[in-house]
Amino acid sequence: MTSQQQCGGPAQARTCMGIVDEAARLERLGKPVVHLEKGELDLDTHDLVKESAIQALRKNRTRYSHSSGLPELRQAISDYYGRVYGVDVNPARVVVNSGSSAAMLELFLALLEPGDEVVIPDPGYPAYPSLIEAARGRAVRAAAAGHGYVHTAELAADHLTSSTKALLINFPSNPVGSLAGPDELRAFAELGPLVVADEVYHGLAFSDERPHTILEYTGDAVSVGSFSKSFAMTGWRLGYVIVPESLRSRLTRMHEYLFVGSNTFAQWGAVTALENAEAIQKQIRDELRGRQECLRDALSHSGLRPVYEPRGGFYTLVHQPEGTGSSAAFAARLLEHAHVALTPGSEFGPSGEGCVRFSLSAPREQIREGLQRITTFLHSSAEGSP
Ligand SMILES: Cc1ncc(COP(=O)(O)O)c(C=O)c1O
Repeated sequence: MTSQQQCGGPAQARTCMGIVDEAARLERLGKPVVHLEKGELDLDTHDLVKESAIQALRKNRTRYSHSSGLPELRQAISDYYGRVYGVDVNPARVVVNSGSSAAMLELFLALLEPGDEVVIPDPGYPAYPSLIEAARGRAVRAAAAGHGYVHTAELAADHLTSSTKALLINFPSNPVGSLAGPDELRAFAELGPLVVADEVYHGLAFSDERPHTILEYTGDAVSVGSFSKSFAMTGWRLGYVIVPESLRSRLTRMHEYLFVGSNTFAQWGAVTALENAEAIQKQIRDELRGRQECLRDALSHSGLRPVYEPRGGFYTLVHQPEGTGSSAAFAARLLEHAHVALTPGSEFGPSGEGCVRFSLSAPREQIREGLQRITTFLHSSAEGSP
C-alpha cells in the first residue's frame, strides 16, 4: 500500500503530498502558510562545506570518483566513527550513495530474496515499505501504538519468523524522536537477524548524552548514515551504508553497475563536513534545542499532548484532540482553516493514526505563530476544543 493510499479519502489535501501541494496552492493565492510538515530544516549548509565543494569544482574535480565513494570520504567516515563511537570501521566497508534512501534501496536489493521479511517500526519513516518492496521483500510492521509508541527489541521479537531477513531500526526516530541506549541496541543485536540501523538523525540529540551506533554492539550489522539532516545538506544527496564484511563485495559490485558513483565535488564538501562535524552539528543542535523548547511550551499551552517527549531528531508526534476525525482529515482542516501544514500520522503507518507530526523545520516565531493559529482554530471549531 502506498502512503497516498494509506491516507485515503478523495480530497487531495488528505495525503502527505496533497498537504504539500495544497500548501503551495494556498501560498500562490497569497495565504501565509506556516510550514511545520517538512522533513528538512530551513538552515543553510555551513560555509566551510560550500567553499570546499566550490574549490573542488575550481580544481576540476568533476570526474568519476571511486564507485563506492572517494577514498578520502570513506576514510573520513571511518575516522568519524572512530572519534564519535570508538569503533573501528574498515573504509572498504563504506558505500557512499545519493542519499541514504538510495543507499537503503541498494542494500535491500543486495540482501533480500523474494518474500524475505524485514521488520520495521510502526510508526516509522514512510519510505521503508517501498524500499523493501522494490527489492521484492515484505515489510512487517511492529505496531508500537499501545506500547508507548517506541520501537523496542521486545516488540520486534514478536514479529520474527523463519522468513525474517533483517530488522530495521531508526534512532533518533522519525516521527517519535526516541533514542536507543546501549542495552536496547544490544537487545536488537541479540535477536538474530541482521540489524539495519537507520542513524541519519545521529548528532541531533537534545541532551549531551553520547549517541550510540549499532556497530558498537556487533560488526554484523548495517549502519545507515546521511549528510542530509545533521549537516543540513538535504539537496546535496549524499548518504552511505557501512556493511558487514560478508556483504561488502556483493554490494560494492552492485553499486558499480547500478550507480557508477556519486557526485564527486559534493563528496569533497562532505569530507569537509566530517572534518568539522562537531562544530557544525553543535550549531544545528543548539538551534533545534531552542525550537524544541518553544514547541513543547506552545503545545502545552494549546492543550495538545505529545505521544512521547522527543529526545532527538526534529519531530514531535502529537495526539489529536478528541473528535477531530482521521489524521488526514484533521491535517487537511488545519491547513485549510488555520493555514498550518502538518503531516498526518497515518503517513507513518497504522500506529500513527490519531496523531499529527510537527517538524522543527521552521524558526521559533513560526512555531509560535503556527500553534497560536491551531489553538484559535480548535477553540472556534465546534468539533475540536481540546
Ligand atoms: C528516518 C529517515 N531515514 C532516511 C531518510 C532519507 O534521507 P536522505 O535520503 O536525504 O539521506 C529520511 C528523510 O526524511 C528519514 O526521515
